[in-house]
Amino acid sequence: MASSRLHIFVLAFCASLLFPSNCSHGDSGLQEKRAALFIFGDSLFDVGNNNYINTTISFKANNWPYGETFFKYPTGRASDGRLIPDFIAEYAKLPFIPPYLQPGFNNYTYGVNFASAGGGALSETHQGFVKDLKTQVSYFKNVEKQLRHKLGDAGAYTFLSEAVYLISIGSNDYYTPVLTNSSLFASHSHEEYVGMVVGNLTDVIKEIYKKGGRKFGFANGVPLGCIPSMRILKPENIGDCAEEVTALVKLHSRVVAKALLKLKSQLHGFRYSNANFYTPLTDTINNPSKYGFKEGKMACCGSGPYRGIMSCGGKNGSEFQLCDNVTEYVFFDSAHPTERVYQKISKLWWSGSPNVTKTSNNLKELFEV
Ligand SMILES: *[C@@H]1O[C@H](CO)[C@@H](O)[C@H](O)[C@H]1NC(C)=O
Ligand SMILES: *[C@@H]1O[C@H](CO)[C@@H](O)[C@H](O)[C@H]1NC(C)=O
Ligand SMILES: *[C@@H]1O[C@H](CO)[C@@H](O)[C@H](O)[C@H]1NC(C)=O
Ligand SMILES: *[C@@H]1O[C@H](CO)[C@@H](O)[C@H](O)[C@H]1NC(C)=O
Ligand SMILES: *[C@@H]1O[C@H](CO)[C@@H](O)[C@H](O)[C@H]1NC(C)=O
Ligand SMILES: *[C@@H]1O[C@H](CO)[C@@H](O)[C@H](O)[C@H]1NC(C)=O
Ligand SMILES: *[C@@H]1O[C@H](CO)[C@@H](O)[C@H](O)[C@H]1NC(C)=O
Repeated sequence: MASSRLHIFVLAFCASLLFPSNCSHGDSGLQEKRAALFIFGDSLFDVGNNNYINTTISFKANNWPYGETFFKYPTGRASDGRLIPDFIAEYAKLPFIPPYLQPGFNNYTYGVNFASAGGGALSETHQGFVKDLKTQVSYFKNVEKQLRHKLGDAGAYTFLSEAVYLISIGSNDYYTPVLTNSSLFASHSHEEYVGMVVGNLTDVIKEIYKKGGRKFGFANGVPLGCIPSMRILKPENIGDCAEEVTALVKLHSRVVAKALLKLKSQLHGFRYSNANFYTPLTDTINNPSKYGFKEGKMACCGSGPYRGIMSCGGKNGSEFQLCDNVTEYVFFDSAHPTERVYQKISKLWWSGSPNVTKTSNNLKELFEV
């Protein structure tokens, strides 16, 4: 980044209440200006929002042993430690980005996280127990209003156009509807159903763009059909992956890739990093030792075959088993990878391994410009 440009930025923000620290040492040289990080999505990205949702049936990871590896207490992250947004924040030299619903948190200098475990792009997905993508964007609009209050319209727009937006959405729109053969799912072809999910994602991108958002990162391709809970679906074929879900995930990734190309031609200045983790994750599941793991199929925490029953944490008084050494495992609970896996794929996304980001930008490039 050109230093003259940086200097102008610091001066421009000095007038604001939001960045008082930039003003106190006005002559102490250049300060590193950091892009803020706004996070939307599901359990891949939820760092605690669901802890503040008032339901009994919950997609909450708020009891031990969640968090055991890194935080040493359950934070609401559905893993033993940090998630992808935590690693990306670290690589971008930002602090951990807190959950929007955390009471009292309202300093958006570095961004905020709206993601809700169990959430989808369709409102019907886990309705009443999660914050869907549309609700997350309504929260974002509240934040935008507050920023305009503090920075002025132009200042807020500039701030939001420098920020990076990470979105992980879709998995829950496929997972439960396929399991339960929901009426919405059953009454549409795969193509139509995926079209609705991606259509909603596209709408949300456009809303964020309108508020200034230009730099987006998308996480796709979790091999949902092969998570431990899916391997126990059919009693006659315990261990098999669920083909229908895998097919939907692959179709979703193809449709998203096309939709993003189209958006790029429609929206001036729109830039993105489209990550597809399907190949590296599937290869890690099937050949764990190649990547330094011992167990690719069975979860570390849960019960039943492959520990595929979602009892990790023992909520509702259920019994569960916990592995001795979580670093050997690809999956922490019956649906979510371990911190070690998240760290590996975060690195691939950040630096842009060709088999993850294909022809799009890597995340590092989005933070630089
Ligand atoms: C949450 O649920 C409890 C018990 O149902 C209720 O007493 C409380 O008022 C609810 N809080 C909110 C913020 O809705
Ligand atoms: C809790 O356990 C009971 C009995 O095993 C079961 O009927 C109920 O559905 C469970 N509730 C949740 C929220 O899992
Ligand atoms: C918000 O956070 C930034 C970064 O930590 C800090 O410099 C600033 O003083 C905070 N603003 C307020 C109003 O607390
Ligand atoms: C998404 O789809 C649902 C149908 O599930 C619809 O009600 C909603 O308004 C759509 N739009 C957005 C932006 O979420
Ligand atoms: C799902 O439901 C539809 C109608 O509601 C039915 O025609 C279809 O056979 C069901 N599919 C499965 C796999 O049960
Ligand atoms: C992905 O690409 C990297 C670097 O090119 C390579 O080391 C790795 O083995 C690839 N992974 C898979 C699963 O193909
Ligand atoms: C856990 O597993 C890792 C990887 O196999 C190994 O390096 C480490 O020594 C193990 N830790 C313990 C406490 O056994």
